[in-house]
Amino acid sequence: AAIEKGGFDHFMLKEIFEQPTTIFDCLRGRLDASAGTIRMSGVDDNLDMLTNARRIIMVACGTSWHAGLVAEYVFEELCRIPVEVEYASEFRYRNPVIQTGDVIIAISQSGETADTLVAIDKAKEQGAFIFGVVNVVGSSIARVSHAGAHTHAGPEIGVASTKAFTAQLAVLYMIALKLGYAKGTIGMERYTHLINELHMVPEKVATVLESSSRIKELAEKYKDSTDFLYLGRGFNFPVALEGALKLKEISYIHAEGYPAAEMKHGPIALVEETLPVVFVATKDAYHEKLVSNAQEIKARRGKVVAVITEDDPVFTEIADDTMSVPAADELIAPMLGVIPLQLLAYYIGLAKGLDVDKPRNLAKSVTVE
Ligand code: G6P
Repeated sequence: AAIEKGGFDHFMLKEIFEQPTTIFDCLRGRLDASAGTIRMSGVDDNLDMLTNARRIIMVACGTSWHAGLVAEYVFEELCRIPVEVEYASEFRYRNPVIQTGDVIIAISQSGETADTLVAIDKAKEQGAFIFGVVNVVGSSIARVSHAGAHTHAGPEIGVASTKAFTAQLAVLYMIALKLGYAKGTIGMERYTHLINELHMVPEKVATVLESSSRIKELAEKYKDSTDFLYLGRGFNFPVALEGALKLKEISYIHAEGYPAAEMKHGPIALVEETLPVVFVATKDAYHEKLVSNAQEIKARRGKVVAVITEDDPVFTEIADDTMSVPAADELIAPMLGVIPLQLLAYYIGLAKGLDVDKPRNLAKSVTVE
């Protein structure tokens, strides 16, 4: 088993550290930065269907649902197609309104999640076109989809999803870029700029991973907290949700993710000295707003821990602790910002002596309802 873990103590840590490779593998053969092109047969073969989608509905569970949420922001921005993101378990029991021209993007690491599988069956019966974004080749969801793109992240053993998430994002970004460019909702310049940004992600993720010992120190410092709040907005709002989910799963510490501006409608009541508030605060259009949200937390004596873009003196000054990531286009930033949060959850679980690869009560793949 030590060999399978490639020298790492746990599969989760191995999988976190594999991400420069898995993201590269996901882009390889598809994204060509020097030519400025993206090829994906599942998209190219169905380009009319996809570019003319009246609406895209992302259907998923757990971490895959968070990938769908990032994709919502990205698709609406780049393709100007209305997007909805649905928990598969809710969608399947509603009487959802499906019309011709609706495209379902089903996102699943395992391709076997029962709720997701039934949800897409139901949408398929009603005439939706199903596009699968699945990691496991030959899985049920891959088989029932009309078309799709595999994430090529390799087997994920740790129950809490890490490398599958960043590979899902890579695939979803590529699809959004292709559709946006084909529709003309983004021009050549932005298309090639974002292709380059994606191309640089594996190297930037490797840079983030170099700071793992610093994140381990933070884990020691905060491991006895009983609650955490995670805040982010825009493209980083789903990253806040995912950071909170990772912490819950691995360390059994109660954590909530919230859109930063929504904190004044509830979570701010919880702020006191013992509450760490993790900001996903990489530089983007909302940066100044997050700065003032962080100041409000400090004014109430909460602890501010922030994921920041390197060289951010303003946030460094406000925060009690920071974890930095290289600069990137704000659209792509979730792929970097999530990495320190995966590590933080891992090291807190480790510091608490928990079984990080197999957290209690959780299953890698939920194949029953
Ligand atoms: C379980 C796993 C999660 C995963 C979710 C959805 O809850 O523990 O890590 O995100 O299922 O799984 P899927 O295979 O459909 O992505």
